[in-house]
Amino acid sequence: MGKKQHGGMRVPSKGECLDLLKRYNGMGNIIRHCIKVAEIALSISTELNRRGENLNLNVVEAAALLHDITKAESFDSGEDHSLTGYRLLRNLGYKRVAEIVREHVFLLKDPDLPWVTEEEVVNYSDKRVRHDQIVTLRERFDDVRARYCRDEGQREWMDRLETLCYRIENKICSKLDIEPEEVTVTQS
Ligand SMILES: [Fe+2]
Repeated sequence: MGKKQHGGMRVPSKGECLDLLKRYNGMGNIIRHCIKVAEIALSISTELNRRGENLNLNVVEAAALLHDITKAESFDSGEDHSLTGYRLLRNLGYKRVAEIVREHVFLLKDPDLPWVTEEEVVNYSDKRVRHDQIVTLRERFDDVRARYCRDEGQREWMDRLETLCYRIENKICSKLDIEPEEVTVTQS
């Protein structure tokens, strides 16, 4: 079925990811968001690999494309879409992609590792895209706070998430030797 193998890993191709998004999600605005996040994640990963990192580009692109695959249904169900996305993709046999989707909202592993992980790239790229526009972390978090934070507990949780995301940004941008504002989509 044209599934790419990476050391025994099953990774859906870009076309398969887009088909999955249409089948399980169907919302055009979410799909456009996912496509932009994937462009950023792929650009960042390509540049990081040029500087000695060892990111699997196919895995990064697939996870970025699929990170919000269960977002639309979560509006009704109220479920955690990183967890439901993880379960769906794991059940489809895409274990590694599923693991990355699970951490796209809140990173489970500490970003203090000396290398950059695929989880960190996808998590960070998602935070740099509001709808389908590249924005700063500040702008993205202001928007998310306005849309989702209803009480003090949610605001505190969002503060923790934002702090974590700035740590990822510092690591990625210092490795790329760029300012956060210079993050862009590059042709590879
Ligand atoms: Fe998401």
